[in-house]
Amino acid sequence: MTSKVIVTPVPVPVGSNAKFGATVTGVDLNHLSNEDFDVIRQAIYTHKVVIVKDQHDLLPVKQFDFVYRLDPDAEEVHGFATEDVTDETTGVLGPAFKVIPGSKGVTVVGQGYQGDDHYGLKGITAGSTTHVDAHAEPLSPAEMASGQTRFGAFHFDGVIYGAYPSRVTTLRCVKAPRGPDLTVRWDDDSGRTMTVKPGLTAFIDSAQLYDMLTKEERIVVDNSRWEPAPHPYVWTGSRKIRNCGLGMAPGGETVTLDKLPAWTEEKVYQFPMVWVNPVTGERSFQILPDVVRKLYLRTGTGGEGKEHVVEDGEEIRTWLNDIIDRICTPENILIPVYEEGDVVMFNNWEVMHSSIDYPLSYGTRTMHQCHIPSSTLPVGPVAVA
Ligand SMILES: [Fe+2]
Repeated sequence: MTSKVIVTPVPVPVGSNAKFGATVTGVDLNHLSNEDFDVIRQAIYTHKVVIVKDQHDLLPVKQFDFVYRLDPDAEEVHGFATEDVTDETTGVLGPAFKVIPGSKGVTVVGQGYQGDDHYGLKGITAGSTTHVDAHAEPLSPAEMASGQTRFGAFHFDGVIYGAYPSRVTTLRCVKAPRGPDLTVRWDDDSGRTMTVKPGLTAFIDSAQLYDMLTKEERIVVDNSRWEPAPHPYVWTGSRKIRNCGLGMAPGGETVTLDKLPAWTEEKVYQFPMVWVNPVTGERSFQILPDVVRKLYLRTGTGGEGKEHVVEDGEEIRTWLNDIIDRICTPENILIPVYEEGDVVMFNNWEVMHSSIDYPLSYGTRTMHQCHIPSSTLPVGPVAVA
């Protein structure tokens, strides 16, 4: 049987360099054949972000099963339901999300009261971390009420400590807020802004960023690695994210290692700086700016050459911001439109994503979110460990 699934690339707006994203139609994720599954998997790894249309009746457990099918050697839990995640270790991520009963690991994210009984969750209010908590200079309540907003924090999903970054994240839009378009502000003296519909998610393509590096820089990052702190979301401490949502602002203090919740060395991994797409072979520069504690920069190839270990937070911050500043401009950011019933799926090893705050007056936002810790470490272009 051949698949009837149709994959349509997202049209690239005039002037945009965000040449990724696709729409998927003609599929029912509640009843997914092997052929249809293969087409969607291929679409995720080829187009990086896909919007699967019209999944109004998707059962949470079927959403989980889809994610698990992408990585059947993984542990069968939500990405933030590992043994190392407690109220004490989630830090800047805020309280642990609620898992829908019977779903195995689908959580509710969004904003506002979710009703007396949402798929078995009784009377919960979703309250994801907003830019007000994360940014160096947040907008005022009056600015937000007037439709001004920010990207919260570009990131990829995963506990990182004691668990490998999740491969693919899925987000089903159950309820979207309603209201006038918003203006995302950079507030970094560039004057940059973007106009967006409320309740959407922004994406940056880390493979595009890799391509923006010079030849010399690519040799360095291909052969280098980075190390997050133990309990990274606690360790990041009082530091803040820049107003543009990507990269750290100056100032603030990390938590010293002896003041963190109990941790062990073997759960602190070293990641390649460049992660290779298992289907297309594309290389992505993938570092989570707020949690990196060490850089291992190597100038030679194939394990040769001198290794320079950077542990100074300010040096790490400026080195990283110099690179990521190249991608964080409106023409490189994809904000695909999705509607209630659509499922957004993305290659978490190749893109960074960010929520976009909207005024409470626009109403409740409900997203069913699922990712699971990868069974394997992301693979680099060369053996760098
Ligand atoms: Fe996320």
